[in-house]
Amino acid sequence: MINLLRMSDLTADQIYQLIERALELKAGAQPIQRPDLFVSNLFFENSTRTKHSFEVAEHKLGLTVINFDADTSSVNKGESLYDTCQTMAAIGCQILVIRHPQEDYYERELVGLTAPVINGGDGSGEHPSQCLLDLMTIYERFGRLEGLKVAIVGDIKHSRVARSNYHTLTRLGADVVFVGPEVFADPTLGDMVDFDQVIQDLDVCMLLRLQHERHFGTKLSDVTSYHQAYGLTQDRYDRLKDQAIVMHPAPVNRGAEIATDLVEADQSVIFEQMTNGMFMRQAILEHIIAANGL
Ligand code: CP
Repeated sequence: MINLLRMSDLTADQIYQLIERALELKAGAQPIQRPDLFVSNLFFENSTRTKHSFEVAEHKLGLTVINFDADTSSVNKGESLYDTCQTMAAIGCQILVIRHPQEDYYERELVGLTAPVINGGDGSGEHPSQCLLDLMTIYERFGRLEGLKVAIVGDIKHSRVARSNYHTLTRLGADVVFVGPEVFADPTLGDMVDFDQVIQDLDVCMLLRLQHERHFGTKLSDVTSYHQAYGLTQDRYDRLKDQAIVMHPAPVNRGAEIATDLVEADQSVIFEQMTNGMFMRQAILEHIIAANGL
């Protein structure tokens, strides 16, 4: 079974192949057409971008899409995650896209599952499709990943995006630093640096959402103070290199991670990331179909 659970499931060559294929699709190449295949999107945690861009991508591949609604399902009768997923496989869903609030849920809950899984985000663990669309967006702009200076800014500790992007960008030769309050540092990844010391050197300023739903008592000063100390203010934006790009996986807390007027500023690629995400998810689905001989 070939899954996409974490970025380490992909070699560097496979990552670049996915980026090239997603860029081809964006340029107008025709995706494979497989109306005989069934795919189910099982989202146990809220989503706008990931869920619906997978859904659009699936329709563009001609797949038959079964959207699973956890709120009206037998999850509410106590059905386990394994039993829900294996039920979808048993009734004929050949690929499962899963988002779940538990980190690494697949290690414990999905052993023995008979359909391949694409991880749509697991707690504070990993978010491989977001990472791949971010890499695509950076590569599209710079033509390379190696040697770029990247700051990942904000709530590092709770961010699956930070984890996937840090490990993968570093593996592919980028220089990644972290910015944010100590309370959001992840010592397993690295120390925080001062935003104002690095802003002028960055190629990529990757902002993260404050993950209020995962804070569980973490003490955070008020949002205005956070924005002044760790947000992308107009003053910091003006100090970026002309070619630097501003990224954010979204949803955005406007006025916290980024000044609201900067969300669609000239150097922001935030909505371009969302556009690219749909093409990257087509490429990921093609990869999973081919790798599993479906
Ligand atoms: N970036 C991202 O994963 O957004 P959603 O939570 O809306 O899917």
